[in-house]
Amino acid sequence: MTDLEPVAVLGTGALGSVVARALAAAGHPTTAWNRTPARLADLVAAEPAIRAAGTPAEAATAATVVVLAVADDDAAHHLLDVLGGTIAGRTVVNLVSTTPESTRVLAARVGSGYLDGAAMSGTRLVGDPAALFLYGGDPGTFAAVEPVLRALGTAQHVGADPGAASLWDTALLAVILGALAGFHHGAALVGAPVARFAEVVLGHLPFVADVLGQHAGQIDAGRYPADDGSVAVFVGAVEQLAAASVARGVATDVPDALLAVLQRAVAAGHGDAGLGSVAEVLR
Ligand SMILES: NC(=O)c1ccc[n+]([C@@H]2O[C@H](COP(=O)([O-])OP(=O)(O)OC[C@H]3O[C@@H](n4cnc5c(N)ncnc54)[C@H](OP(=O)(O)O)[C@@H]3O)[C@@H](O)[C@H]2O)c1
Repeated sequence: MTDLEPVAVLGTGALGSVVARALAAAGHPTTAWNRTPARLADLVAAEPAIRAAGTPAEAATAATVVVLAVADDDAAHHLLDVLGGTIAGRTVVNLVSTTPESTRVLAARVGSGYLDGAAMSGTRLVGDPAALFLYGGDPGTFAAVEPVLRALGTAQHVGADPGAASLWDTALLAVILGALAGFHHGAALVGAPVARFAEVVLGHLPFVADVLGQHAGQIDAGRYPADDGSVAVFVGAVEQLAAASVARGVATDVPDALLAVLQRAVAAGHGDAGLGSVAEVLR
């Protein structure tokens, strides 16, 4: 016997299966359901602590926390149709990727006890504190189920709005893809061995992290000192990056995008301000 919350995982695809495994490994009585029974049978064969349910309602009835891990919004609505009143009094954690707008519709259907989650680290790290999960929804609901959510990874509550996790998910995507676009451009410019380039880039990341923290404070305060160079100075630097790229036959899509943003800031009168002012211009 355990006093850990019993959980249900509905949908045992790539994400749902590792979520169910992590919850079971943490000692939660775990029941899972999947539309295609063979997939569920494979999971239970690999992790016998997971109990297979024949229907979504059977799984939910066995649990206080019900995790949705089906493919999309339509499938999540279909599950809510099928579950009907079974979810009353239970917490529903929706890990399905949706937009902020559509998760609010799901939240309204469930009523109290709804949390929207965004799995930010793929499937490989689930169950490890290195896996990041973002949650949006009622803070009291989050606090009540946080011990369960910690079994999946680091749980960050990012807002009372159920759409918050989805919004932050896309905002983090902008950061990650922006950073990777810069890395890919640099790698194309420098050429092999890219592993050596990556080594130097990784050593430089603490500086980048420091700048990011400074910009956060500047954006919150609405003041943009040009201590590390003005927007106008960076326009010149990016023009050099574009020229160096052209000279080496490297496409200029990435510097062109950077230049467009910086020039927009100059046009808005921020040429002498620091780079953090770009966020204000974009807003
Ligand atoms: N995989 C990741 O790394 C990751 C990371 C972050 C977020 N997500 C999000 O998590 C969700 C699940 O992703 P996944 O990678 O696990 O996808 P997946 O491997 O394709 O699995 C999809 C799951 O949804 C079920 N499903 C699809 N349509 C259904 C329906 N109409 N009714 C009931 N069940 C249905 C599938 O059941 P069957 O087995 O019967 O087809 C399967 O269990 C997606 O919204 C995805 O964007 C995934």
